[in-house]
Amino acid sequence: MSHDQPWGPNSLEETTQFVAEVVADAAEHKRVWYCLAVEYDGQLIGAGELWITDWYNECAEIGYVLHPAYWGQGFATEMANVLLAFGFEQLGMHRIFATCDPKNIASFSV
Ligand SMILES: CC(C)(COP(=O)(O)OP(=O)(O)OC[C@H]1O[C@@H](n2cnc3c(N)ncnc32)[C@H](O)[C@@H]1OP(=O)(O)O)[C@@H](O)C(=O)NCCC(=O)NCCS
Repeated sequence: MSHDQPWGPNSLEETTQFVAEVVADAAEHKRVWYCLAVEYDGQLIGAGELWITDWYNECAEIGYVLHPAYWGQGFATEMANVLLAFGFEQLGMHRIFATCDPKNIASFSV
């Protein structure tokens, strides 16, 4: 796994601010950002996100991040399927895409 990517570990302040932004965005009338918590065995182990990038063309992007202790167990694949079902079936999106660093083999596989 590459170490030159901009994910954490976050400070408590950064995490507090992130959660506040997610909650504020959930109250938006035309919501464009959905951040879903991943819970396993009573623990918060990661998050999956869907951003509506283009309302007119019904396009969205998805992303995911997991605690390293839970990598390689299929959680991200399951999360991606949940995000795709949510985006296509509940939000009515036409296209959903994801991008990744080409060195990020796990994300590329998802
Ligand atoms: C990317 C990430 C979400 C993958 O989560 P995960 O739960 O480990 O992924 P899965 O277990 O569902 O595995 C998905 C695929 O990647 C493969 N894989 C997982 N870890 C791998 C690794 N370290 N090296 C190579 N392949 C790997 C799995 O074998 C699986 O392949 P398959 O579908 O052909 O069977 C996780 O590594 C992570 O949180 N990374 C940091 C954040 C990040 O990079 N997010 C994505 C940004 S684009």
